[in-house]
Amino acid sequence: MDRNRVYIFDTTLRDGEQVPGCQLNTVEKIQVAKALEALGVDVIEAGFPVSSPGDFNSVREISKAVTWPTICALTRAVEKDIDVAADALKYAKHGRIHTGIGTSDYHIRYKFNSTREEILERAVKAVKYARKYVDDVEFYAEDAGRTDNEYLARVVEAVIKAGATVVNIPDTTGYCLPEEFGAKIKYLMEHVDGIDNAIISTHCHNDLGMATANTMAGLLNGARQAEVTINGVGERAGNTSLEEVAMILKSHNEIPLKTNINTTRIYPTSRMVSNLMNMPVQPNKAIVGKNAFAHSSGIHQDGVLKNAQTYEIIDPKDIGLDENSIVLTARSGHAALKYRLEVLGVKLSDEKLDKVYQDFLRLADKKKEISDEDILMLAGADRTHDHHVKVDWLQATSGIGMKPVASIGLDISGEKFEAAATGNGPVDAAIKAVRQIIKRPVTLTEFTIQGVSKGSDDTCKVHVQVESEGRSYYGFGINTDIVTASIESYLDAINKIRN
Ligand code: KIV
Ligand code: ZN
Repeated sequence: MDRNRVYIFDTTLRDGEQVPGCQLNTVEKIQVAKALEALGVDVIEAGFPVSSPGDFNSVREISKAVTWPTICALTRAVEKDIDVAADALKYAKHGRIHTGIGTSDYHIRYKFNSTREEILERAVKAVKYARKYVDDVEFYAEDAGRTDNEYLARVVEAVIKAGATVVNIPDTTGYCLPEEFGAKIKYLMEHVDGIDNAIISTHCHNDLGMATANTMAGLLNGARQAEVTINGVGERAGNTSLEEVAMILKSHNEIPLKTNINTTRIYPTSRMVSNLMNMPVQPNKAIVGKNAFAHSSGIHQDGVLKNAQTYEIIDPKDIGLDENSIVLTARSGHAALKYRLEVLGVKLSDEKLDKVYQDFLRLADKKKEISDEDILMLAGADRTHDHHVKVDWLQATSGIGMKPVASIGLDISGEKFEAAATGNGPVDAAIKAVRQIIKRPVTLTEFTIQGVSKGSDDTCKVHVQVESEGRSYYGFGINTDIVTASIESYLDAINKIRN
């Protein structure tokens, strides 16, 4: 085994997809899995099969669709979970079961009402049970970040002896300092008998903004697998971002560690995931944010024009960001759109491509230049075909010295309804008009509006969260008209309540 090879374990489809509002259907998950394969990840964690029939099905279908990477399924240290995971992995060319249990005293006492000895026994039992199904078993010591190192070393040693091929040391709560996390991995490397029989993995959360730093500290101290997600998506503040780890290792030549990531696929994959999950990438996000390579200060621009290396540590082309990305206009043909989508990692059926092309032409009529973000939106924008509640027409007026007013016509399962309302702005008025028709109590708890690229002719994306009868529903809308995008997004959420 090459000791300098770092294995990239992508958990976008499991830990990332757990985020409320980011759920993908099986077809979308397959699309992401294929993009991850093209990106060169070693392991795809495809889901938690026992948690839902949808997750089970996704693991099964991804196992069929993907050839080269290992497909991993998560379980608790519970036999039933492991049985179900093994079944879901039946078609995987390389299948891995990822089983585990909490090892910190917080988990042992409060979650399991148990003892360290009992937890150790359960860990060993689960690994042995999983090994009956597959040769590749990864064990996770949940909350390892807050687990006493001596006890953690005993657990790691025992699970390796029981047959674990990979041992995951998660900083589940994102609490560790980089020095502390690095020291933890070093401690395990130095104190666990048989440590060379397994790969030690990092799985860091970003609650204190240290996920990537902790992952790097782990790798520099002996871990050889990094668990990451695209764009750092994940519960709460998210997980370690794949793009950050891959680009750190590519840029720092003094670090001998290398991954298999084809970094030129980073940007297209980032945009695809953001688009499918309806999860905007923060503009100043390292590597993939819209501003990551935008130099606005005159001094920087001058330096970059003279020699890019004065202020740029990464060539944007290395992540697949080419400066000519805004190339499509109303005069671009079908083939140009198809090519651009393929560059961005999206392959569409001819029928779907025709539809996206028509939408593209409509958008190009309203916007001079169509960006990559726009066409990715269009490719994933056909979200309304199964909606019961649809907009027939919408009119909103606003201005200085007048009260904003909106009128709307809705089609609800074939029946027509109309309403009008005033509000403190056209969006507020339009939402109030919808509420007059849809009488059920719905509270708008979140509303985010964001431009896709730049310019007054930009496309805008709207994400909403509504609450109804104690449950949250997420909606997404996209249009060059902010009132239309807002109403599409609101109705997208409303339609989920009905489903
Ligand atoms: O953060 C965590 O501890 C996890 C485990 C289930 C691997 O996601
Ligand atoms: Zn996690």
